[in-house]
Amino acid sequence: MQPLDWIDDELDVLKATDALRTIRTRDVSYRPGFISIAGQELTNFSSNDYLGIAAELKRDGSDQQWGSGASPLITGYTSAHKTLEKCFCKFKASESAMLFSSGFAANMGTIPAIVSNGDAVFSDARNHASIIDGCRLSNADVFVYRHNDIDHLTELITSVQARRKLIVTDTLFSMDGDVANLSSLSQIADDQGAMLMIDEAHATGVYGKNARGLAEEADVESGVHITVSTFSKALGSVGGVVTGTSQLINWLRNKARSYVYSTSMPNGVCEMSLAGVEIVQSDSNRRTHLLALRDRLVSRLATDRLIEENHPSHIVPIRIGANDKTLSLSQQLFKAGFLVAAIRPPTVPDGEAMLRIGLTASHSVEQIDALADVLSIARSQA
Ligand SMILES: Cc1ncc(COP(=O)(O)O)c(C=O)c1O
Repeated sequence: MQPLDWIDDELDVLKATDALRTIRTRDVSYRPGFISIAGQELTNFSSNDYLGIAAELKRDGSDQQWGSGASPLITGYTSAHKTLEKCFCKFKASESAMLFSSGFAANMGTIPAIVSNGDAVFSDARNHASIIDGCRLSNADVFVYRHNDIDHLTELITSVQARRKLIVTDTLFSMDGDVANLSSLSQIADDQGAMLMIDEAHATGVYGKNARGLAEEADVESGVHITVSTFSKALGSVGGVVTGTSQLINWLRNKARSYVYSTSMPNGVCEMSLAGVEIVQSDSNRRTHLLALRDRLVSRLATDRLIEENHPSHIVPIRIGANDKTLSLSQQLFKAGFLVAAIRPPTVPDGEAMLRIGLTASHSVEQIDALADVLSIARSQA
């Protein structure tokens, strides 16, 4: 019995009552008032483009309408969405994929679709807001384990009785820049028959041999049941995506409310997201450079005792503590020509304000050294 096997029974119930929804792909271009499905033109009475504006808006040089005009299960799903899903699936070496309008919508729609009353969710204390909100919406019992504390998770998950159990975590935590212990999490999920859901928002495109993320890097992809990614970080575009088995994706297409009841993204966005994925697949130099910059900055800042030496990612926090000190350091950096955001509560817990350095492949070694120099001076004067 696999952790997602319950989905087959639920899908059978939908089938038996003629309530199962399947996706219909329309062509990207159409005449105003019409729609074209597999070459057959139909008069379209299933669009929300009430004034015909979506049908008229086109990017320069494009013959495609901009707005998608409807939610995906009605008439908003086009061959551009399908192509992006297929391509992303291949990139992630996954069986199936589905697009959401954002990563936030992906988490908020997925969690309540897979757990509800009588189920238990085990969520890392530092998970992203969209995971927290998804847990709250689900009506499942939510158990928050201390950040990255595997013993605490084990204690909770072994003491709770529930119909279904879900472990959910960011893989790369967006503020702390530290990483989840995915090997232990997949082991616990396996031992407990629990579902494991990971959010690779900040890791997709950067980590792993094929840039699939930290699950690839940790070699635990086969132990993960649900993966959320976003096009809005390393992939340079916008939109969320869930990958997993076809069984999971069929279920989510029916039950994830932020998918079923929301207008699908414009075709043009799908094309740009696809271009982002293609760049990641064809150009590993960007991520190699980014990780070299990380190593350089981490080494410099660790020498100055501003961070720990084994900091693992390109998101580098400098923990200050008090809001005023953090703001003042951020302003000092601003004056010196560097924009480094001061992160304060409620984004981080009270008393844990920090500077968050987000490295990118667009930075140069000289810029990294200059930032490290200024930080070193600023801290020695503080
Ligand atoms: C871990 C994590 N998940 C999800 C999201 C939301 O992604 P999007 O910006 O595509 O809505 C973010 C964005 O900051 C994030 O950090």
